[in-house]
Amino acid sequence: MSSYPDVRLRRFRRNASLRGLVRETHLRLDQFVMPLFVAPESLRNEQLPGMSRYTVEAVVREVEELVRAGVQAVILFGIPAEKDEQATGAWEDDGIVQQALRALRPRFPELVLMTDVCLCEYTSHGHCGVIVDGEVHNDRSLELLARTAVSHVEAGADVVAPSDMMDGRVRAIRDALDDVGSESVPVLAYSAKYASAFYGPFREAADSTPSFGDRRGYQMDPANVREALRECELDIEEGADAIMIKPALPYLDVIRAARESFDVPIGAYNVSGEYAMVKAAAQAGWLEERQAALESLTAIKRAGADLIISYWTKDLAQWL
Ligand code: PBG
Repeated sequence: MSSYPDVRLRRFRRNASLRGLVRETHLRLDQFVMPLFVAPESLRNEQLPGMSRYTVEAVVREVEELVRAGVQAVILFGIPAEKDEQATGAWEDDGIVQQALRALRPRFPELVLMTDVCLCEYTSHGHCGVIVDGEVHNDRSLELLARTAVSHVEAGADVVAPSDMMDGRVRAIRDALDDVGSESVPVLAYSAKYASAFYGPFREAADSTPSFGDRRGYQMDPANVREALRECELDIEEGADAIMIKPALPYLDVIRAARESFDVPIGAYNVSGEYAMVKAAAQAGWLEERQAALESLTAIKRAGADLIISYWTKDLAQWL
């Protein structure tokens, strides 16, 4: 009785209700995070269709729509008016993300406001840290990253998500938050962030393409998975409350490996290139966007992710 013709797996596939009974993986809007770009001037993104840069005023209106649709979390990225060597726009008290947080916090008390903590959108050279002798200097970048996280929290952020890949940044940020009495704010670390071609459209959106070199000196080699587990482990030791794998679709094995190794919540970032590929193919009439998106996001969950950052979050609110 353990094989065909006695066993027929098609029996539970015969209609939608039967399939629903045995479905193993579910998408829920309350585990999705919508990325938003805040800038001094609005701009429609060519490479990230459907995404825009919002002014502080416009981001309030957009968030109003998102919240009305049921979205429960957003992550903010900032594009400053001016960039410099010290990434001043990242950590100054009236930086663009800080302004957006102060506008959003009182209006949406229930919404989870996350921020991406990185310097690349704010440095004149576009790297994620401070440059010393032509290289991104790890330890000197930590202080600015910690300052950035503290200023986000002081402006109203609920969760900070460092995406820079400097060694020791989780501890630096945790210590700095604790020092100002923000010991209850969680850190979601982009622990295994790969040096990926799939960030291309984001860099146009965030204006953060490095002016020289690339990010391989600090982001991970796509060939490595054991190293990703070490990154996760170190971040947890340094005080990360949750870890993240990024990108998501080309790294499902890394999500799975992290899931099997750690009991902390795991995030996955369904990045700009993953989104843009489906958008472009859908626009060409080559595949159906909604089905492809739902299938991709389900695969990310199935691999073991808890929360997912995705540009489809707003659409999901309609689709689910
Ligand atoms: C900042 C950052 C990047 C992304 C998220 N945070 C860009 C990068 O590292 O180059 C990429 C997100 C996406 O592609 O959707 N360091």
